[in-house]
Amino acid sequence: MKLVIKLTGIAALVFWSCTTKKESSPTHAHSEGEHYHHNVYKAQDSVLNHKLIFPSKVPDRVILHLTEHPENSIAVNWRTNAQVTEGFIQIAVATDGPEFRQNGIKRVKADTEYFQNQSKKNNEPLVVANYHSVKVEGLQPNTIYAYRVGNGGEDSRLWSEWYHTTTASNLANKAFSFIYFGDAQNEVKSMWSRLIRSSYQLFPKVDFMLHAGDLINSRDSNLEWGEWFHAGSFIHATVPSVMTPGNHEYRNEVLTPLWRPQFNLPKNGPLKEVEETTYVIDYQDLKLISLDAVSFDDKEHSRNAQVKWLDSILSTNTKKWTALFLHYPVLSVAKKRDEDNLLMKKALQPVIEKYQLDLVLTGHDHTYARGSVKNIPTGITGVYETGTVYAVSVSGPKMYESEDKKWMDRRGENIQLFQIISIENDILNYKAFTPIGNIYDAFEMTKVNGKKQVRNKIPKTQERLKKDFK
Ligand SMILES: [Fe+2]
Repeated sequence: MKLVIKLTGIAALVFWSCTTKKESSPTHAHSEGEHYHHNVYKAQDSVLNHKLIFPSKVPDRVILHLTEHPENSIAVNWRTNAQVTEGFIQIAVATDGPEFRQNGIKRVKADTEYFQNQSKKNNEPLVVANYHSVKVEGLQPNTIYAYRVGNGGEDSRLWSEWYHTTTASNLANKAFSFIYFGDAQNEVKSMWSRLIRSSYQLFPKVDFMLHAGDLINSRDSNLEWGEWFHAGSFIHATVPSVMTPGNHEYRNEVLTPLWRPQFNLPKNGPLKEVEETTYVIDYQDLKLISLDAVSFDDKEHSRNAQVKWLDSILSTNTKKWTALFLHYPVLSVAKKRDEDNLLMKKALQPVIEKYQLDLVLTGHDHTYARGSVKNIPTGITGVYETGTVYAVSVSGPKMYESEDKKWMDRRGENIQLFQIISIENDILNYKAFTPIGNIYDAFEMTKVNGKKQVRNKIPKTQERLKKDFK
């Protein structure tokens, strides 16, 4: 407290000092090295983007996740500086007025992990932090909760704001939706922010968001992760997320050590080394499965374990809808990338086809394509019986070209997209949106009497090709 008073005093003095100088000499010029006390925050001045990189005593990078049972639990992670050695969540059923804070607040202590790293590749400073991780069980389904995270003390300045979130329903037939993002990866603050923000603006009631890997470019960069959290801001703390790692979260076959401290994803996969990267979630009538594509591609034992695990999950699956998400495409789209996903085709596609999964959502190719191996070319409003629908998408600004292939119903280059997928009973709706709210692709999938059909609803806009934008 004394320090705060002192700093406030200094800041007031500096403000007074600068103001006085300006008033007395409005045309004064600052010579090199002239000292006007503008650098009272020396540490901050020496690191550009200081606020995106360094933690403080106040929680930042707050992120809410789906758990294995999202109808009665939530998982939350956040970061503070290392002076905050304990973390707590407070949670209550939200009310119309502020009275939810008076009674019935549940308080749960987080696991706190000290972590430091430095991204020398990007010339970044050493960052020392405590990461706090908590899971709250015993919640009611389909209920709006208010929660906040902090150090557990009385001083509200050391807590986050109260965030709202709604738990999943325990009724299988209740409608829900989720947003699927391909790679954000590059210029995340500058150019990806508009994607996640417009997705939330258009669909503020969305139930969760799904990231198909390569959230950032350089796995250990505190600045890049800071940009990712900045871009989503309170959305990350309000709409639960799930994410699967891409090759940019890996280096030399090792996952970024930031993944597990900063995220809080299910640990129900087949191997310790793919904990929180390969997992399964039951969300109402959807079975949602993340595969760690990089580990799958790099390591034979991981590939075998993931395939065996996936087969066992699917063999006992009672959910009406099943979606798989992973970073690498199973069917390639980008030029010269056919060789890249041979292992996906060889080891994974047979399982996907065996169980006729509904959706396979991927990224990596920095372009857009969507279709099915059972595609019969019936035009943009065609209806066809289908097996699995495969999608490749990109949400950030890095763009590659693609090739027109038989399996594709719709493709596009040089276009930032997010997809909203809505499920209600026998109907799944899929729409790909641009950041300015235009629909680029859409279809409806129905499952009636054991028959699965896709009805294309592709807009009549021209296919976008990169060459047209040079
Ligand atoms: Fe990638």
